[in-house]
Amino acid sequence: MTNTSPSSAPVQTPLNAVVVGLQWGDEGKGKIVHRLSDQFDAVVRYNGGANAGHSIVVKGERFALHLIPSGILHAGKPAIVGNGVVVDPEWILKEIAGLQARGVDVSGLRISDCAHAVMPWHKDEDVLREGWLSSQSVNPIGTTKRGIGPAYADKVQRGTAIRIGDLLRPELLRARLELICPLKTAVLGAMAKHSAEARAAALAPHYHPETLFTQATQWGQALRPYITDTSALLLDMMGAGKRVLFEGANATLLDVDHGTYPFVTSSSTSSLGVPSGAGVPAHSVGRIIGIMKAYSTRVGGGPMPTELIGDPQREALAHQIREKGREYGTTTGRPRRVGWLDLVAVRYSARLNGAHALSVMLLDVLAGLRTLRVATKYRAGGQVSDHFPPDGDALSHVTPDYVDVPGFDGDVTTARTMADLPTGARRYLDLIEQTVGVPIKYVSVGPDRDQTIEV
Ligand code: IMP
Repeated sequence: MTNTSPSSAPVQTPLNAVVVGLQWGDEGKGKIVHRLSDQFDAVVRYNGGANAGHSIVVKGERFALHLIPSGILHAGKPAIVGNGVVVDPEWILKEIAGLQARGVDVSGLRISDCAHAVMPWHKDEDVLREGWLSSQSVNPIGTTKRGIGPAYADKVQRGTAIRIGDLLRPELLRARLELICPLKTAVLGAMAKHSAEARAAALAPHYHPETLFTQATQWGQALRPYITDTSALLLDMMGAGKRVLFEGANATLLDVDHGTYPFVTSSSTSSLGVPSGAGVPAHSVGRIIGIMKAYSTRVGGGPMPTELIGDPQREALAHQIREKGREYGTTTGRPRRVGWLDLVAVRYSARLNGAHALSVMLLDVLAGLRTLRVATKYRAGGQVSDHFPPDGDALSHVTPDYVDVPGFDGDVTTARTMADLPTGARRYLDLIEQTVGVPIKYVSVGPDRDQTIEV
């Protein structure tokens, strides 16, 4: 039997792709997404929220995006925020206005009506929970305080959640706010009473249904042109043979199930999150491109076995890499923790995602270092293995087993083919490829889109 309805026809998807981070975020996914997006008909975010930060340099101009997919920089091309994203309406409106002020055409933006809204109480709760953990002498997660965890928690709780589509349904919205506001005022008020930080900042959460109704309706009106059923849109596009690029936010080691729990974010950050977060069938993910830095960084709490800390020499090296690589959070401005390349972690992520190709970023940052250390195994409990434990506590007990390789000198930023790279850099890349077992497709040697080697 032939079914001719476009949205229920079998989806033809061999040409799609996903770009996903293989470490703890900030690998430079935005640059590769922007470079690849020429070849795709739509770019889709499927997870996370304003905790992510993509910074892209186009013709020397730097754009920092948090919620809007970097594909937006291609005028008119659908840039889709999928149902798996948590959207702070205030934030996305600011991002839209900021892009428009710089002459960017945002007409391609589409936001899923099923994406969940990050409301003011989510951001307050994020602050209060982190404060509570610190006050109990427990390591906080080190969140971005953008309300991500509390918004996903409400999504799963169901009764106290607001979806983006609800902003366009006044009656339902009012009823929801009347239900939610007293509960959030009571719960967060009680939490604030126990928080020294909240007392110091005079944070006394109080949410008025009517005030929030006015505000949320305004958000809805401003976002109305962009809100739609993005899953149906994608199924139609794919049914018509269009190519879709899925853009992962955060990164695999921050995945709520497969990352270094509990020091993770609250969404499915890996390619495993694409089908549910974008509303597409599992087989439509297509080619999986894993993005990794030539070294390691991490923001926030949690174990990082190869971190350069503990003595002045290591810390000076971390400082040097941080400055050269501009390793400060795009979202929070926090200095990133820096470490040697951890291939145990990268191999784990590449396998979990099913990566078909690797993209090695920021290779230029390592130029000039005499020796480069790479962790290829871990020692734990008297055993040496290449097993990566996806668990914060277990990972904090491993010691990396390093291979030392000679560094490389010179300016690699002008290299455009592998042959242009010094021998030391090529050997470093060979080591990555052999240890991870996935071919390298791109090597980034500078921030600009053109400073890329395509293998
Ligand atoms: P949350 O996502 O704000 O809840 O933060 C949870 C953890 O994930 C914290 O350690 C953050 O620093 C980290 N995190 C979240 N998003 C990113 C990202 O895009 N890059 C790097 N770290 C991130």
